Amino acid sequence: MIFDEFTIKSLIRPVPGFPKEGVTFRDITPLYQSPRAMRMVADSLIQRYVESPVTHIGAIDARGFLLGAVLAYELNKPLILFRKAGKLPADCLREAYSTEYGEAHIEVHRDALKEGDQVLLLDDLIATGGTFLAAARLVSQLGAEVYEAAAIIDLPDLGGSRLIQDAGIATFTLCAFE
Ligand code: PRP
Ligand code: ADE
Ligand code: MG
Repeated sequence: MIFDEFTIKSLIRPVPGFPKEGVTFRDITPLYQSPRAMRMVADSLIQRYVESPVTHIGAIDARGFLLGAVLAYELNKPLILFRKAGKLPADCLREAYSTEYGEAHIEVHRDALKEGDQVLLLDDLIATGGTFLAAARLVSQLGAEVYEAAAIIDLPDLGGSRLIQDAGIATFTLCAFE
């Protein structure tokens, strides 16, 4: 299916003032409610990575899980969960980060990745880049490499994609809101 950025953007709802004053929340639930639009998103990402050297899909809690599961299934790759602290049961590595509206910790199981693995990190959106950068630190602590950090949405005014690129990690997004 041909990717139509206008359709995708029209299904991302701006919610001013959520979760706090000054933030315009980009709500992807209308996009997830459209099978046709989700197929465009998934197909674009599958096409981009199907012949790549990616060995693992690293999906970020929570909204990145949805996309991550689709990509891992279609690309037939292991799905690695990067979870908010306290959710993964076995031995974990943990990193702190801050985002547009809060601070948190993200974790991954210590045995999830190893040297030589090439991880495609997936999330719904890049804002300050804090989440992706924390996940990338975990990947490198496990001796693996981030192949690319991919998301549906970039918010370039918040500088996250630039920061991620400055850290030497390629980014890929399907649309942007200035
Ligand atoms: C949101 C979004 C990204 C992150 C982006 O997740 O889904 O993961 O913030 O922000 P950043 O680039 O500034 O790090 P959030 O933790 O709000 O909640 P979620 O559990 O709904 O994904
Ligand atoms: N995560 C961080 N900033 C966000 C925003 N503006 N909309 C949706 N998710 C976000
Ligand atoms: Mg998230």
